[in-house]
Amino acid sequence: MVNKFSRIGFILAAAGSAVGLGNIWKFPYIAGEYGGGAFVLIYLVAILFIGLTVFLAEAVIGQNGQANVSTSFVVISKSKNPNWKLAGFMVATGLIVLSFYSVVLGWILNYVITSFDTLPTKAEIAGAKFENLISNDIGSLLIYHTLIAGSVVFIVLKGIKEGIEKINLILMPLLGLILIGLLIYAFTLDSFSQAVSFMFIPDFSKIDGNALLAALGQAFFTLSLGVGTILTYSASLPKKTNFVKSSFYVAAVDTTIAIVAGLIIFSFLFEAGAPSSAGPGLVFISLPVIFSGWGILGHIIAVSFFVALVFAGITSAVSMIEPALRFFIEIFKITRAKATIICGSTFYILGIVALLSMSKTYADELTFFGKNAFDIMDFMTSSVMMPIAAILTCVFLGYFVDKKLLEEKFLAHCSSSVFNTWYFLIRFVVPIAIVILLLNKLGAI
Ligand code: PFF
Repeated sequence: MVNKFSRIGFILAAAGSAVGLGNIWKFPYIAGEYGGGAFVLIYLVAILFIGLTVFLAEAVIGQNGQANVSTSFVVISKSKNPNWKLAGFMVATGLIVLSFYSVVLGWILNYVITSFDTLPTKAEIAGAKFENLISNDIGSLLIYHTLIAGSVVFIVLKGIKEGIEKINLILMPLLGLILIGLLIYAFTLDSFSQAVSFMFIPDFSKIDGNALLAALGQAFFTLSLGVGTILTYSASLPKKTNFVKSSFYVAAVDTTIAIVAGLIIFSFLFEAGAPSSAGPGLVFISLPVIFSGWGILGHIIAVSFFVALVFAGITSAVSMIEPALRFFIEIFKITRAKATIICGSTFYILGIVALLSMSKTYADELTFFGKNAFDIMDFMTSSVMMPIAAILTCVFLGYFVDKKLLEEKFLAHCSSSVFNTWYFLIRFVVPIAIVILLLNKLGAI
């Protein structure tokens, strides 16, 4: 079959999925809020023992199922019980995440364009500009959301090899180059060493249960888990490929980029004497003000930074729709073009609802139980559907798939101690950790 990834194509595409707004926007602001070093350390442990475990789980199901999420679960289950098809619910998660992710990418596209000629000189001006964009400027938001959604649809229409693999082959190296450029610039600043200390010298005073759960949640989101994305990409990976090594590479690239983004952003913030704990507004409010003080160079850095975010985001966005596409193509036996139209219009319309729910004009109609539609979609996916899918995946592999089959698949590529550790984690440790995360998100603990 032609429509399969090459090994390097898979690593780049899975890394493209993993590396996104989660790394460059979210990781630095959460690390900043929880005081830096100690949070980074906990995050690394969460990636290695929990995130990577679930990543390998999705990879082994996909590579051996060689089909969409639903069919892959049934194919590799011990009983071949058709009820495992229900695991396919997770393909809906990707579409919902994509709707608001596309809106946020739209904001960033706006920042790419406006950063060419104007950068706010004060935090109040930057805050007002951001607020005005998301709550008043519906026309611009619709145009940007349409541009992003259109690009995603255009890329995925071409399929795995010609669409997804190719775009990652182009955008991932470009993203790497921009980040290296920004890192070199950050390195020349006096504040670089302060950023290094902030990120690597642990101060456990700001660490509490919430920090642990934030690290765990971030480890899941950043590795694109619980959406069937890694599973679906792995289903296009030739059966003999070493999925264990590939998974380690992807987690390593993803983690390196989060750390590099943190070093760049904290160097910039400390250089300007700005606080590290500005929250979600950090890249939209704090950074533009800093860039404005650097003259023409500031504009170049601002545009490069926001372009890097768009590149990282687009390669993640295409990965969110792919599980649903493959599901529709195989279960309903329709063409890729038809599936793309169905899934594309679903996430596009949901995105418009999300976008309008943040505007002053439509907020009232689109707010339910005190939360606007954008926040509801975010909450339902990251806090409920993704953890449930991850728990299901672990319990499935740990208790409903023949251990011999898994052993055989893993031992072709790694030592028995790696397999035994993974098997222990997937049966006993990870499901419990995610249940705690889920209960906490639901306000039960
Ligand atoms: N991993 C992406 C990020 O860090 O921005 C987000 C993501 C991509 C989540 C793909 C889920 C997904 F299926």
